[in-house]
Amino acid sequence: MTRALQVLIVDDEAGIRRSLSAILDDEGYRVLTAADGAECMRAMDAEAVDLVLLDIWMEGRDGIAVLKDIKAQHPAVPVVMMSGHGTIETAVSALKLGAYDYLEKPLSLDRVTLTVEHALTESKLARENRQLKRQVENRLRMVGDSPVMQRLRAQIVRVAASCARTLITGPNGSGKELIARALHENSPRRAQPFVEINCAALPEPLIESELFGYQKGAFSGADRAKPGMFELADHGTLFLDEVGDMSLSTQARVLRVLQEGRFQRLGDTEPRAVDVWIIAATNRDLRQAIGAGQFREDLFFRLNVIPIEAPALSERRDDIPALVAHFAERAAREQGLPAKAFSPEVIQALQDAPWPGNVRELKNIVERLMILSLGNRIDIADLPDEMSAARRPAAGYAGLPLREARDLFETEHIRQALDACEGNISRAAERLGVERSNLSKKIRQLGIPPDPSGR
Ligand SMILES: Nc1ncnc2c1ncn2[C@@H]1O[C@H](COP(=O)(O)OP(=O)(O)OP(=O)(O)O)[C@@H](O)[C@H]1O
Ligand SMILES: [Mg+2]
Repeated sequence: MTRALQVLIVDDEAGIRRSLSAILDDEGYRVLTAADGAECMRAMDAEAVDLVLLDIWMEGRDGIAVLKDIKAQHPAVPVVMMSGHGTIETAVSALKLGAYDYLEKPLSLDRVTLTVEHALTESKLARENRQLKRQVENRLRMVGDSPVMQRLRAQIVRVAASCARTLITGPNGSGKELIARALHENSPRRAQPFVEINCAALPEPLIESELFGYQKGAFSGADRAKPGMFELADHGTLFLDEVGDMSLSTQARVLRVLQEGRFQRLGDTEPRAVDVWIIAATNRDLRQAIGAGQFREDLFFRLNVIPIEAPALSERRDDIPALVAHFAERAAREQGLPAKAFSPEVIQALQDAPWPGNVRELKNIVERLMILSLGNRIDIADLPDEMSAARRPAAGYAGLPLREARDLFETEHIRQALDACEGNISRAAERLGVERSNLSKKIRQLGIPPDPSGR
């Protein structure tokens, strides 16, 4: 259920307060009243006011002064001014100070209700807009302060300033698309379009018509002309995602655009000039694809002016707690879930997991935990089995003698710490809170291979 909208009437004449209250009450609003500026500010501090009707000529502080206070302290609340002796200049100065509109006394019932309705609709739209914008910004936020991420951020800012062609590589779900968007948002082109095409998701014939557009009659079914993405991205950025999946014929056409800065729609003879910043991304090894004859070397060099590497999540495990908090908060907000606390053991288990699916996999797991876990705390038992087995000795070791169970647990636990520290025994010892010499001894006793890849 939505609450009734609250309108605050500020007027020093009791008669006006009463008659306006009656009108607005009939319209279904909750009405508050104030006889002067001080009462008005007190009411706004105490209650969620959605709109203020404010008299200009009042004893004491006049309406213009009160308007300034409202705009300073509650800038999002729309204010409609009222005056019996209103001059155009006062109205104009009130509007300049941020008043939504102006009503002249004697008040006409229709004008009052219409103006109030419009002001409320408009401020609701403005609020929704702000919320959407915040949501988008939040989705685009790059979380993480590890040295790897700090370097990546600095690199993004530098490359964005130059709009040099960039090829982003990196494993699945490591944030390549996010990097492409961050490049655009940090570039001088940020107010221009960001257009993306996923070359792996579209069937080959569609890719060309999407990229270059077509003229009416270019092929059967082309019953009207359509601009392609190169045109739509003019002055902006074109993101060629999964560029490694582009066919050789499309590669040849794209290469020509990059060389000449011009292209033709399918079925057109007229070349069109475009100014687009090309950012490409792939999780394939393009050099290997070149060797296999699947990717043009000349196109590779054109695209790969600046290489950017999206780091695997396992290279920046320090960021995992912040990422978990970010995705948990986002899931709570977007899905209307209550906030939940992740136990330190869960955070540790997540920091130690291998993450072949990188940030996307982490995001999915956090969302799943938020949705599926009961109560407001997420514990080891809530984790998927493969992540929690080593941390829940009782589960896998039922029936074993204590000593064997302990050895098994220690083996697994130490192995994970070593994995997390790339086999570095000193760092693993620090992480486990034991002396390096003790850890070495344990490793020998338990027969754990020193190299994590040798497991
Ligand atoms: N540093 C980060 N901070 C916050 N969210 C991130 C970060 N990196 C990636 N993500 C999120 O992880 C998910 C996967 O990222 P993205 O789609 O950019 O990866 P990708 O490398 O393009 O994946 P794929 O290889 O599957 O195309 C997205 O939801 C993205 O918002
Ligand atoms: Mg992607």
